[in-house]
Amino acid sequence: MEQTTRHYPYQVLTAEEYEIAYRKSIDDPEAFWGDVASHFAWRRKWDNVVTSDFTVPRTEWFGNARLNIAENCLDRHLNTIGNRPAIIWEPNDPDTHYRSLTYKELYKKVCQFSYVLRNNGVKKGDRVCIYMGMIPELAVAMLACARIGAVHTVIFGGFSAQSIADRLQDAKAEIIVTADGAYRGPKSIPLKDVIDDALPVCPFVKRVIVCTHLRNPVSMIKGRDVWWEDEIKKVETQGWKHYAAEEMDAEDPLFILYTSGSTGKPKGVVHSTAGYMVYTCYSFVNVFNYQPGDVFFCTADMGWITGHSYLLYGALLSGATSLMYEGIPTWPDAGRMWNIVDKHKVNILYTAPTALRSLMSFGREPLADKDLSSLKVLGTVGEPINDEAWQWYYKEIGKERCPIVDTWWQTETGGIMISNMAGITPAKPTYATLPMPGVELVLVNEKGHVLPGNDVSGILCIRSAWPSLLRTTYNDHEKYYRNYFAPYPGMYFTGDGAYRDENGLYRITGRIDDVLNVSGHRIGSAEVENAINMHTGVTESAVVGYPHEIKGEGIYAYVVYEKPVTDADLIRRDILQTVSRVIGPIARPDKVQFVSALPKTRSGKIMRRILRKIAESDTTNLGDLTTLTDPTIVDELTAGRIE
Ligand code: WT7
Repeated sequence: MEQTTRHYPYQVLTAEEYEIAYRKSIDDPEAFWGDVASHFAWRRKWDNVVTSDFTVPRTEWFGNARLNIAENCLDRHLNTIGNRPAIIWEPNDPDTHYRSLTYKELYKKVCQFSYVLRNNGVKKGDRVCIYMGMIPELAVAMLACARIGAVHTVIFGGFSAQSIADRLQDAKAEIIVTADGAYRGPKSIPLKDVIDDALPVCPFVKRVIVCTHLRNPVSMIKGRDVWWEDEIKKVETQGWKHYAAEEMDAEDPLFILYTSGSTGKPKGVVHSTAGYMVYTCYSFVNVFNYQPGDVFFCTADMGWITGHSYLLYGALLSGATSLMYEGIPTWPDAGRMWNIVDKHKVNILYTAPTALRSLMSFGREPLADKDLSSLKVLGTVGEPINDEAWQWYYKEIGKERCPIVDTWWQTETGGIMISNMAGITPAKPTYATLPMPGVELVLVNEKGHVLPGNDVSGILCIRSAWPSLLRTTYNDHEKYYRNYFAPYPGMYFTGDGAYRDENGLYRITGRIDDVLNVSGHRIGSAEVENAINMHTGVTESAVVGYPHEIKGEGIYAYVVYEKPVTDADLIRRDILQTVSRVIGPIARPDKVQFVSALPKTRSGKIMRRILRKIAESDTTNLGDLTTLTDPTIVDELTAGRIE
């Protein structure tokens, strides 16, 4: 990799500088983060850098400071890099022309949409639900919410009406921003129709703003639904006006993002303003070794935390050019991503192992006529990357020139927690490697005892607060405590297991709770079970993950049906349809096995360990079965295993 230059005062340039930064961040977090934060635009400076107590739990960063994050993403850059592209948008159909929005243009659109939101009754603190495809207007809507101080909650386009309704009710969102539809490879998703199906149970929704994209027919209810374009025209007729960004408190919530846990209901992860801003920007610059002018291409959907933190906030806060694309890596062919890299001269590519595994299976052909020489840094996120995918990425895509950053983090952590810094600290295949400055990792055993030394495996916890830690779970602070701080008192519990090698590098071994990771998407097994159990005729069910070549983890469902199953294939497909309806297509089980009973202990607990072993076809050592009420069930399960 070429010699890099320090373009940001807090940019780390050598492994030695990383060591120094890390030390300082732990020994004196106030000085360390105070220094990083001093490079942003504040309306009022903080009184305290950090106050945190994990036993309450309560964490505050940059206490009493005042700012606006959208102003930091846009206005702050106008005089210096106003004409640089902020967002390059590549549409689903490669024959449709791409769009590029400079910082100035994006700023103007965000100001205009801020007026639209205000005209439609949105006030500071209100929750705005955004359910759109990957179009620039989605970024505009998010930034406009941030500008006026509304809390956005973006819902991924693959979620069903029922899932949307649950989230709308939990967040009490009265305003929705959506589109007539979204493209996704050869398919399209009728977003507005899905919203319409959610609204009968959400009478509190006052306004739906609909952006035109597909130009397909949609129902528009008088008094409730308005067109994005009409609302913008109204604002335009009043002439161009700057929208004065709302002055927010450092700890005011910026957004809610729903994510799955081990309970049957997704939780609303709440991120606050200042700490999230400082950390996403710091980690963006340092993990990717961002150099001004670099084109950063993150393939994640905005509906997930990766989209929020790096496609949008981290990138724009750093004055970067962020490439956003609609569509999927395999349409119209498996060369789509490489085409985009070639066409826009992408320098940094950030994607998921599942995408790499799927592209790998197409061989070299889709790469044949693609010039990938602009690439400098490659990144992965979302799930452990297997060695084969890592090597392929390194050799075939990076031509052995580009460092790979394997970034471990979570919706809850807001930003990257463990990763090498591209070209600066060493990479090791399948290892996320080292903690970022400010991140104090510990491995503990089941009893919560800290495991010292190297060459050790344990449960991954974090000992002290970092700036982008989630501040609560919406409407339920008790749940926040129960999920993250109660399991190992005094520490943040990640839910992941990890191994620390002889050199102190971390390798993530995967979830230790009942959370599945399917194609980098987090799905709670309890949620899928609830959905299956809603299907007529289903008595009960149990869902586990099993290794899947492309998806990383597949979903295996054991279903107890109330009467003999006569047409298993049809009932299976009916069940999948119910899961699609209740959660969304992403949660559909890959395999459904009908069973007469589930393996349970005398206290009624399902022994998932056995179910997992059978699902992954490892039936030689099922362990102790004597605690089961009916050990013979195991033979039935094994015999009926779905290949
Ligand atoms: C879970 C968090 C972080 C944005 C996307 C997913 C797994 C994430 C890695 C990685 C191994 C990883 C963990 C984590 N995970 N990144 N580099 N190596 N595992 O966010 O939906 O909140 O899921 O994804 O299990 O807990 P999320």
